[in-house]
Amino acid sequence: MAFPFPTTIFFFFFTLIISSFFSLHSAQPPPSSTLGFRCTNATTPSANCYSLIDYHLPNTTTLSAVQSLFDIKNLRNLLAANNLPTTTPHNRTFPAESILRIPFPCLCRNATGISNRRPIYTVVPDDGLFHIAAEVFSRLVTYPQIQLVNNITDANTILVGQRLWIPLPCSCDEVDGEQVVHYGHFVAAGSTVEGIAEQFNTTERTLLNLNGMADAKELQASSILDVPLKVCKSMVTSNSLDYPLLVPNGTSIYTANNCVRCRCDAMNNWMLECEPSGLALPRGQTCPSTLCEGTSFNLGNITSGSGCSRSRCVYTGYTDGRINTTISRDSTCPGNNGLSNV
Ligand SMILES: *[C@@H]1O[C@H](CO)[C@@H](O)[C@H](O)[C@H]1NC(C)=O
Ligand SMILES: *[C@@H]1O[C@H](CO)[C@@H](O)[C@H](O)[C@H]1NC(C)=O
Ligand SMILES: *[C@@H]1O[C@H](CO)[C@@H](O)[C@H](O)[C@H]1NC(C)=O
Ligand SMILES: *[C@@H]1O[C@H](CO)[C@@H](O)[C@H](O)[C@H]1NC(C)=O
Ligand SMILES: *[C@@H]1O[C@H](CO)[C@@H](O)[C@H](O)[C@H]1NC(C)=O
Ligand SMILES: *[C@@H]1O[C@H](CO)[C@@H](O)[C@H](O)[C@H]1NC(C)=O
Ligand SMILES: *[C@@H]1O[C@H](CO)[C@@H](O)[C@H](O)[C@H]1NC(C)=O
Ligand SMILES: *[C@@H]1O[C@H](CO)[C@@H](O)[C@H](O)[C@H]1NC(C)=O
Ligand SMILES: *[C@@H]1O[C@H](CO)[C@@H](O)[C@H](O)[C@H]1NC(C)=O
Repeated sequence: MAFPFPTTIFFFFFTLIISSFFSLHSAQPPPSSTLGFRCTNATTPSANCYSLIDYHLPNTTTLSAVQSLFDIKNLRNLLAANNLPTTTPHNRTFPAESILRIPFPCLCRNATGISNRRPIYTVVPDDGLFHIAAEVFSRLVTYPQIQLVNNITDANTILVGQRLWIPLPCSCDEVDGEQVVHYGHFVAAGSTVEGIAEQFNTTERTLLNLNGMADAKELQASSILDVPLKVCKSMVTSNSLDYPLLVPNGTSIYTANNCVRCRCDAMNNWMLECEPSGLALPRGQTCPSTLCEGTSFNLGNITSGSGCSRSRCVYTGYTDGRINTTISRDSTCPGNNGLSNV
């Protein structure tokens, strides 16, 4: 089982050649072992949050292969992050070069954010760290980063069956005083910082600052840029197990032990819409009631009242065995889009 395998050596030298090529010809820094995105504003010394990253498919592949590579527990979480219908089959094929958004838990420590002990990749015969970083995970990480978090002293010595933690970059920082979801955006050839800022409704200055870039000209094609995604307003209370529930535009999330599905659509005035997930739970498990207390209103139900006022049953959080809801009124009258509790 002992390495080095010939391919490992090959990739190792290949990497050296590539890095010296870049340092000689394009003034790029050599592959860095600095981890993750900057994560300094988290309120606690180690913060956890939900994050997204673009996976640029190296080969034609199926959803279930991607799910398994990134250790995503349920296919529906991958579908929800990509706004794909819940009925999408696990063997749906996506062509090489397409992009899927990968949902994962982020952990911030020591001013950097990386995926929290996942995904775990198991070494197969003829693997090498450079190959795993570049051709399996499409450069979401560099091989020195894998080396660093797994305490590997010699990059040429990895063992078949060895389990490697792949440290995907992420952050839990607030941006300009707002909670956001940090999204590792794959920079397509020809894109500009200005264009990306416009696409995700942020500013060029915010992107440069977040990514430690002095100038927009530093943007490199195929790199991963930290993009803060604005999230929908929710009424989840701070004692709820899923607080803060951060759901960006165009994605959904399952919460409350999979009993509730919440969706964010900017078109709905940036208000989080939650409803019973309707999922079949494992045998012996049932969901607690999702009715708004004392009514026959279920989570997500809306009724129109007199004039332009509306009432809806909204999600406010969960703890073991209980889902909390409240009736919330809003107005469709022009110039009034605030929520108010009853
Ligand atoms: C996908 O899986 C379904 C059953 O789960 C099967 O009927 C179908 O033939 C598969 N499609 C492909 C392209 O493999
Ligand atoms: C935290 O980061 C500093 C500087 O990057 C480094 O010297 C130190 O070893 C790190 N501490 C831990 C616990 O990773
Ligand atoms: C993609 O294909 C290349 C070439 O066959 C292979 O080396 C690599 O491991 C594949 N990547 C994945 C994620 O399957
Ligand atoms: C690497 O070593 C450090 C310090 O000895 C330890 O805290 C950490 O858990 C180790 N990481 C892995 C993946 O074994
Ligand atoms: C982090 O917090 C500092 C001080 O509160 C603030 O100046 C800075 O803009 C924040 N960074 C981000 C990315 O929001
Ligand atoms: C973009 O962001 C600004 C400021 O945060 C906001 O006023 C505007 O409505 C947003 N645009 C869209 C289309 O959401
Ligand atoms: C749910 O509601 C109960 C009763 O009002 C309250 O005691 C509890 O703190 C709430 N839990 C959450 C997570 O909001
Ligand atoms: C929200 O997401 C949809 C696609 O899911 C996109 O078409 C729309 O432009 C986004 N809106 C904002 C304001 O980001
Ligand atoms: C209330 O919500 C439930 C669960 O989502 C749904 O099945 C039902 O059709 C809704 N009823 C009304 C009147 O909207």
